Amino acid sequence: MSLFSSKTFESFDALLLDQIEDLYDAEQRLTKALPKMAEAAHDMQLQSAFREHLVETEGQVARLERVFGLLNQQPASETCDAMKGLIKEGEKAIDADADPEIKDAALIAAAQRVEHYEIAAYGTAKAFAERLGRREIVRLLNETLAEEKAADTKLTSLAEQGINEEALAAGGRS
Ligand SMILES: [Fe+2]
Repeated sequence: MSLFSSKTFESFDALLLDQIEDLYDAEQRLTKALPKMAEAAHDMQLQSAFREHLVETEGQVARLERVFGLLNQQPASETCDAMKGLIKEGEKAIDADADPEIKDAALIAAAQRVEHYEIAAYGTAKAFAERLGRREIVRLLNETLAEEKAADTKLTSLAEQGINEEALAAGGRS
């Protein structure tokens, strides 16, 4: 007997739908987490990166609702345990007792894990939709994928062009 509850996928379409339901849950969780990340951030550019990505994430939720429509399904969520865990790690960064600059570096570390998870998930869903010949779904997923990649790149540049150095300097202060 499996330790985990098992699922049934009756078709490749059903597997795509499952991926979309997982992402729908993940994105909704993120719309609740990003304002807290923005509030915890010390660096103004990092704050605005989180706020801008919140607006994008709200658009991504709406985009997924369009995907559900194209699949002739009502929007439904499949609990995304991975995103729950990633957000929990983000909360540890938010609550950490650290210099603000070090906290910013910790927030970026958590946020980039989220972005990489999403890049993997959208990349897979897009490949499934391509294989199924669902061009409009591919287009929608690709728009979001581009946003996730851009958000990740932005976080990398904020870290490497200042925040990591400030975190190092802050650490030397004590
Ligand atoms: Fe997203």
